[in-house]
Amino acid sequence: MAQWQEVTTALGPGQHTVVELVHYSVLLVNLAGRLYAVENRCSHDDGELDGGVIEAETVTCPRHGACFCLKTGRVLKPPAFEDIASFAVRIQDGRVQIHDEPNE
Ligand code: FES
Repeated sequence: MAQWQEVTTALGPGQHTVVELVHYSVLLVNLAGRLYAVENRCSHDDGELDGGVIEAETVTCPRHGACFCLKTGRVLKPPAFEDIASFAVRIQDGRVQIHDEPNE
């Protein structure tokens, strides 16, 4: 059953971290005070996106340069052609939580 998973790491603006959910590794990013979560796996060749350049609202895969929107998971630049999953993030009682099933 899908549920919310609490994140213990505090993230300031411009910071990011990797959160391991039950079925997904997720890149959680603080973009100017708002939190976004996308799958930490490039759809080109399964490379980790953690370690890639985060710029504006995008992350660039460190392996071959594919680029994804951090807000939606949409692919923006080849060599990837498939979107990656994005996840809902909420603040509950002052704590950050990520939904463990991707957005549709
Ligand atoms: S694995 Fe990400 S661009 Fe190739």
